[in-house]
Amino acid sequence: MNRMHLLDTAPIPGGGELRLFQCGDIYTIKIAGGGDLMNSRVRESEKALARLPCERIARRPSARVLVGGLGMGFTLAEALSVLQQDAEVVVAELVPAVVEWNHHVLGEKAGHPLRDPRTRVVVDDVAQVLKANRGGFDAILLDVDNGPEGLTLTANDRLYSDLGLVSAIEALKAGGILAVWSAAPAPFFTRRLHQSGLRVEEHIVRARPNGKGERHMIWLAMN
Ligand SMILES: C[S@@+](CC[C@H](N)C(=O)[O-])C[C@H]1O[C@@H](n2cnc3c(N)ncnc32)[C@H](O)[C@@H]1O
Repeated sequence: MNRMHLLDTAPIPGGGELRLFQCGDIYTIKIAGGGDLMNSRVRESEKALARLPCERIARRPSARVLVGGLGMGFTLAEALSVLQQDAEVVVAELVPAVVEWNHHVLGEKAGHPLRDPRTRVVVDDVAQVLKANRGGFDAILLDVDNGPEGLTLTANDRLYSDLGLVSAIEALKAGGILAVWSAAPAPFFTRRLHQSGLRVEEHIVRARPNGKGERHMIWLAMN
């Protein structure tokens, strides 16, 4: 039986630490003192987070998409596979080491999406990238944490607050789509999306192929 090895640790700006483990060919990112953030075997809902919105905007000329955060690159890779050659995908990642891990040890898992010339990495809080890009994106794909009930950073709660939603909506182009991943339904967040005046869809997606694994939630909100 394979044993789990600690490969690296990285401070989370704002507090806490991420830990990267390997067990055979499976990689896991954990939060020190918390649970698993994600592992490389379970990726179907991360891919759906990109596929569901990007299929709807892929035909727009020079489509611009924001992915926050990078994780193991599954959402980014799926967005690139759906979008056309003139698209740009900006990836906002808070933890610099996560970007390094994706350039090296993790890169192969998602097919090295950081090497795609359409990818632009910004090492920063996605909240800052939203503020700096008013009217900038056809789609915004948010998977920075466990969902509206966060895990990595308490400060991430503000992304899902009323003010956070205003900031995300302002960063969308007309007819843009905000997509948000969550480990579980969160009725308060569904209500909040409706109250912000967006047209809202809820999609339950399975974590593994062929309708297997846990049920995760993806909200699509259209302006
Ligand atoms: C669950 S993972 C994302 C998984 C990703 N969807 C994938 O396909 O691999 C969450 C990522 O968001 C990053 N993150 C957490 N808070 C962030 C923030 N405020 N801004 C940008 N990235 C953040 C974490 O460091 C981590 O890399």
